[in-house]
Amino acid sequence: MKVPEAGAPGAVAPPGVVQFFDTTLRDGEQSPGFSLSPAAKLQVARQLARLRVDVIEAGFPASSPGDLEAVRTIARQVEGPAITGLARAVRGDIEAVHRAVRDAPRHLIHVFIGVSDVHITQKLGLDRAEVLRRTTEAVAFARSLCETVQFSPEDAGRADPDYLLEVVQVAVDQGASVINLPDTTGYCLPEEFSALVAGVRSQVRGMDRVLVSVHCHDDLGLATANSLAGIAAGARRVEGCINGIGERAGNAALEEVLMALRVRRPALGLEDHLDARELVPTSRLISELTGTPVPPNKPVVGGNAFSHASGVHQHGVLKDRRTYEIISAEDVGADPSQIVLTARSGRHALVHRLQLIGVELPQAALPAVWERFLEVADGSKQVEDEALIRIVGEVGGPQPGKVP
Ligand code: KIV
Ligand code: ZN
Repeated sequence: MKVPEAGAPGAVAPPGVVQFFDTTLRDGEQSPGFSLSPAAKLQVARQLARLRVDVIEAGFPASSPGDLEAVRTIARQVEGPAITGLARAVRGDIEAVHRAVRDAPRHLIHVFIGVSDVHITQKLGLDRAEVLRRTTEAVAFARSLCETVQFSPEDAGRADPDYLLEVVQVAVDQGASVINLPDTTGYCLPEEFSALVAGVRSQVRGMDRVLVSVHCHDDLGLATANSLAGIAAGARRVEGCINGIGERAGNAALEEVLMALRVRRPALGLEDHLDARELVPTSRLISELTGTPVPPNKPVVGGNAFSHASGVHQHGVLKDRRTYEIISAEDVGADPSQIVLTARSGRHALVHRLQLIGVELPQAALPAVWERFLEVADGSKQVEDEALIRIVGEVGGPQPGKVP
């Protein structure tokens, strides 16, 4: 595969809108500990519709009758996003997806097959020619049932680049209108992944009629960076899961990709259709339904994403929150940013917190309160409001509402 020269077709990304394809209910749900009941899947799908994702991959209908039924219920009841389900490149799977999604006003069939040599020979027990033949047959069959077919060459990130082009070419020739390029094992570096996307866009015939999508896993912590590299190379759809859940280390966290596009819009110049204020509600719902807490330091949706604990940071944020925040909590549906009192906090933060809880401390009382505060803070992770009121009382300061 040749990487296009600057200025060549495929080297320049098209302008426009990036679509979001959420696979929380398929790739996310298939990871250990994340399985959901059909009712919970419906609840998540309704919330994803409020978030206004473009496509919901609601499941893998051939995997069980229960999953087929859950996808069908979502297709019938959830309005807004297009609905899809995953199929291996075999007729039975493709028919199962079609049965499950056909009642949705907008639907598509998503077909995949492994294309790296290790997938072809070790997992599938096939050779390259047979994978080409199966791709041709599966995409043609899916197209006979459904107007929109998405094809994913699984493990594209580790495939022989020239063979990848051949497989994508037959899928496009058979009428796939979305080509999704997965870095299934999270192996690629961002430059490699953007070259892969640019190469497919420039060297497969007929790509001007095809939407390119990217699907990145996080085994090396590069899923968001690789998704953005793919977008920079011209992909206009991104797949992932809220909270970054998914097989092994997970999928690209859609909240991270979305906020990178928004915060860096002047640099990237791309739009989207999502309602970002639904990010935190969606994250919390998934965490609650799967019983899996969101790590506090998780970008955008973690409990600490808008908390400030050190004195230097608190001083800055109290003057102008832009000193340490590039996202506004309210823009992603999070609680307003917080000044958290710890042993690393400063006097500005202490006085600020006391004012918020109605304690107007006279200047003269501050040194004694500060000293006692540090003693308490050194012995605890965080000093809560009740402890603060107690500290002020111990040194004879005013209580809430009793302004001297
Ligand atoms: O990671 C992967 O390759 C997938 C495909 C089925 C899209 O999940
Ligand atoms: Zn995946």
